[in-house]
Amino acid sequence: MTRITLRRPDDWHLHLRDGAMLAAVLPHSARHFARALVMPNLVPPVRTGADAAAYRARILAALPPDVDFTPLMTLYLTEETNPRDVVCAHRAGLIAAVKLYPAGATTNSTSGVRDFDRIRPVLEAMAEAGVPLCVHGEVTDPEVDIFDREAVFLTRVLDPIRRATPGLRVVLEHVTTAEGLDYVRSGGPQIGGTITAHHLVINRNAILAGGIRPHYYCLPVAKRESHRQALVAAATAAPPCFFLGTDSAPHPDADKEAACGCAGCYTAPVALPVLAEVFDRAGALDRLERFASLNGAAFYGLAPNAATVTLERGPPLPRPGRLPAGEAGVTVFDPGFPLHWQVLR
Ligand code: DOR
Ligand code: ZN
Repeated sequence: MTRITLRRPDDWHLHLRDGAMLAAVLPHSARHFARALVMPNLVPPVRTGADAAAYRARILAALPPDVDFTPLMTLYLTEETNPRDVVCAHRAGLIAAVKLYPAGATTNSTSGVRDFDRIRPVLEAMAEAGVPLCVHGEVTDPEVDIFDREAVFLTRVLDPIRRATPGLRVVLEHVTTAEGLDYVRSGGPQIGGTITAHHLVINRNAILAGGIRPHYYCLPVAKRESHRQALVAAATAAPPCFFLGTDSAPHPDADKEAACGCAGCYTAPVALPVLAEVFDRAGALDRLERFASLNGAAFYGLAPNAATVTLERGPPLPRPGRLPAGEAGVTVFDPGFPLHWQVLR
């Protein structure tokens, strides 16, 4: 197969940032994706319905003309989040979900949740009103090894929350472990999981073996090869519970290539070509549409996009380079092998 046409994909986990960075990265997501669930971890975070409305307006103002792209907004859950504000914002169509960051788990998560008991009222209101909770699933306990933080989160935090809040719809974001996949698969229709493009192609050796490669460092950190293989098997099988969320997370190169570098892989421009390569190798191109364009929309109760996108396989494309962004460049994720699939315009 050298050409494949699918419904336009959606990105169910995207960092767009703000200001000059927003202007630099937004066109690249809008070119390939019809909708994206926009993460709220700005500084300061997008905490209220009013914050989300203002951020949405800034995104729309930064959109190039004549592109069809809809940002779907999220709120950043804090211990002070007002349940009424969440429910009203969701009812008004202003937000599609609420994002839970355990405090200290990742970039700009200091305002996140420390005491999970304090968010019980808001979670109950969300369950009642059908507002999905997107979860950064890692414990922050320094005693827990960083490669185990996702698996420990499932038993220590997520399962107790879900048992205490029946009816709450949950997305385990950027699943990186076989344990996370099993948890989502066995959790029934109330839980879904996003999988990134980069976790399908790198394991922890890519970050650490033969020199430290900061552009492969993200959170949750890539795990050992057996987990990567489990992720590929899950994504390419494409059951309804798994869908694409790129977690494309741009940082200026100076902040990545530093003694203490930021977490995040900037994948938006290559996410679809990388996915096509992964699905092609797995003999699963016929299931790419389910993973990238259908399953996520169905989970969020939305119709699939009417428009289509066509990918074509050809000679190897130039290696991804650096995107000019504000004062600094942003390195685009390089999967480490040649890409052959490109999105036709
Ligand atoms: O690698 C990551 N980068 N993981 C996250 O959870 C946040 C993101 C960011 O905002 O840079
Ligand atoms: Zn993220």
